[in-house]
Amino acid sequence: MLEDADKRWLRQELGKRVRFDEPMLQHTYFRIGGPADAWVEPQNASQLKVILEWAQKKDIPYLMIGGGSNLLVRDGGIRGLVIHLGRMSAGVEWVQKGETVIVSAGAGIPTRHICTLALKHGWLGMNFALGIPGTLGGAIIMNAGTAHGCMADVIEKVMVMTSSGEQIEVQRQSLDYRYRRLRLPTALSGTATASAVLMAAHISLKPGDRDEIRDQARQWMQGRARKQPSWQPSAGCFFKNPSDVQPAGRLIDEAGLKGYTVGDAQVSPKHGNFIINRGKASAADVLAVAARVREAVKDRFDIDLEPEVRIVGEEKTGA
Ligand code: EPU
Repeated sequence: MLEDADKRWLRQELGKRVRFDEPMLQHTYFRIGGPADAWVEPQNASQLKVILEWAQKKDIPYLMIGGGSNLLVRDGGIRGLVIHLGRMSAGVEWVQKGETVIVSAGAGIPTRHICTLALKHGWLGMNFALGIPGTLGGAIIMNAGTAHGCMADVIEKVMVMTSSGEQIEVQRQSLDYRYRRLRLPTALSGTATASAVLMAAHISLKPGDRDEIRDQARQWMQGRARKQPSWQPSAGCFFKNPSDVQPAGRLIDEAGLKGYTVGDAQVSPKHGNFIINRGKASAADVLAVAARVREAVKDRFDIDLEPEVRIVGEEKTGA
């Protein structure tokens, strides 16, 4: 897909901030994924703008990724550019206005940094996200959440760069938050292969009692550690919960699928909604496990499970 002239242009523009045929397993929590044609880490907004304009002009697809925590990359890898904003994360700033603390942060900042900051200052609102891996940008786009809340609860506004390089602020009332998904206004969102890029966000928190917030954090973190296979490579919960009263983990458990294995991919014996990589699992192994899980839950409960994990890239062809 990328021609030599494209590679030369990217190298000239980005220097060491572009790598070709980059194994995506190095960038996903699953530790799975074929090569990306080019892995691109712009250092600032103007460099990002130049790259987006070039990609549009050349009709080269690009995909934004955050921390790779909720991502399954197929074994054939990704054609075009994979853009990661981790290198351009601006610092985190905050300002208190009456009973509200507004925290502004770049999309490439790890979500845990905001959680830690809130704990340090005794701000209410971010504890729900403790233990959610990945970047703030990824968490916002996925409307990441737990039983205790989700990103939609705390977002004040987001700053996006459209696929034509224009920087726009979108206030919370114009954001269409769904379960584990954020939809930007249609006019801004672009297409699947050339989407708007989330650059930064303002988060709205409340001053609270620091000790109470810390106690709550400890309890919630302990709950997660008890229930989830946190130390094994995975993409977190693989399926969306069909409803609060029918969590996917319980349905999969009751369908008898815990421990079901294909290659090195396995339904976690600890939590039914985690598919874990026990070593050298391929994306095909994970997808085979997921297909069996869906089939079993459909047969037993007549419920269609929908992946929460974002699945991208091409299947591997040939030997
Ligand atoms: N359950 C079972 N068997 C299992 C797993 C769960 O019976 O194997 C039961 C539990 O006993 C509980 C219910 O199912 O009664 C719900 O389980 P849990 O409390 O573990 O929560 P969850 O709904 O499975 C959600 C989020 C998690 C988040 C936790 C903690 C989704 C899809 N998952 O899990 O988020 O960490 O709450 O608040 O919303 C993620 O998004 O990647 C993720 C892991």
